[in-house]
Amino acid sequence: MPQPLTASRSARISGRVRVPGDKSISHRALILGAIATGRTRIEGLLQAADVAATARVVEALGATVSQEDGVVDVLGQGVGGLRSPRAPLDFGNSGTSARLMLGVVAGHEMRAEFTGDASLSRRPMGRVLTPLTTMGLRVEGERETLPLVVSGTADIIPIVYPLPVPSAQVKSSVLLAGLHAPGRTTVVEPLATRDHTERMLRYFGAEVEVSDQDDGRAITVGGDAELHGAELSVPGDPSSAAFLIAAGLICADSDIVVENVLMNPTRTGLFQTLREMGADIEVLNLRDAGGEPVGDVWAKASGLKGVRVPPERGPSMIDEYPILAVIAAFAEGETRMEGLAELKVKESDRLAATAAGLAACGVEALVEGDVLTVRGGATVPGGGQVATHMDHRIAMAFLTLGLAAEKPVSVDDVSMIATSFPGFARLMTKLGAQLA
Ligand code: S3P
Repeated sequence: MPQPLTASRSARISGRVRVPGDKSISHRALILGAIATGRTRIEGLLQAADVAATARVVEALGATVSQEDGVVDVLGQGVGGLRSPRAPLDFGNSGTSARLMLGVVAGHEMRAEFTGDASLSRRPMGRVLTPLTTMGLRVEGERETLPLVVSGTADIIPIVYPLPVPSAQVKSSVLLAGLHAPGRTTVVEPLATRDHTERMLRYFGAEVEVSDQDDGRAITVGGDAELHGAELSVPGDPSSAAFLIAAGLICADSDIVVENVLMNPTRTGLFQTLREMGADIEVLNLRDAGGEPVGDVWAKASGLKGVRVPPERGPSMIDEYPILAVIAAFAEGETRMEGLAELKVKESDRLAATAAGLAACGVEALVEGDVLTVRGGATVPGGGQVATHMDHRIAMAFLTLGLAAEKPVSVDDVSMIATSFPGFARLMTKLGAQLA
């Protein structure tokens, strides 16, 4: 049953809060824990449906996952030590888990069926199957979307792979398969994408080299790898914090601090863009937390102006375009976001869903190829009914818009928010948001 929700104009968003753990790091912590030898202890793991899917999958493949006092323990089986699943692996809505686990399964002598929900079953898997089949994975049928039946091999072939799309999931999938190869596997990325896999592989003891080349950044992992269980603490997800920060910027008289937010430079494109728009936003107490930079983000209600967001910034804020488009609706003038082709293959076609949502709220938004232009101003009519298309970030972005629009904004279904940010409505309400 869809669960609609309505957001109404809220005067002052204020308070000090934390957001749940980073989703990308949480998936990787479980996956590397499962293929390491010994015990991995994870503090602050995101407790959301997508990460729960990864936990279930690594358990179905022989790892043990347990939880006590908010700390998650993974007992790993070592690289190459997972066992064949007895039933199809269900990835729910999670593209990251499906793509990363295809890389893991590729290096095991096993046959596995990958399944997912309707949204995930529409998303392209060819982008990982192309390099992985070169490395030795076999795919039954001519399929490039879930459900997929694949067979891995203990004789994986090391490759050098230039990424045709800037995707951290593809990079990670190839690197994870490369751990099993008898030599070194290299991925070359023309634009830097989030680097949590490289950082965490190193932290677990794998050999990882990163070098800048003429054609981009080359990331190499050593084969026949051994990973050792590790202790990790997962920082707050900047992609979740983005909605609270946006509310702080666009709702009158607001002043909020989101503590302990991941500040990895491959993830902070939104903050850079917001500063260019004139946002009153500061990062306090910048520190290192287990190999990742972390800070407290302070945001206050701000007068904003439209800017051009260049395509090369895309990978560092790829999940933040729906909320940036919402913020742009409140900025004076035009915001032009370029190079958004990848948005079409997220949990929904986010380019179309964002433009349609803005139009439903009386905001002028134009899609031309892979460019989205939003014409903003101090007042946004709102009053729209927004279709979320099973997409958590579309739901959260348009509820945030409703907090500062003239008339209430309804979204058709908030159930998918649980995939990444359970407690979103509760936390927003605690900060002063009117949601009902
Ligand atoms: C992710 C990478 C990005 C991002 C997704 C998480 C990851 O996807 O959109 O939410 O954890 O590697 P792409 O690799 O498809 O760009």
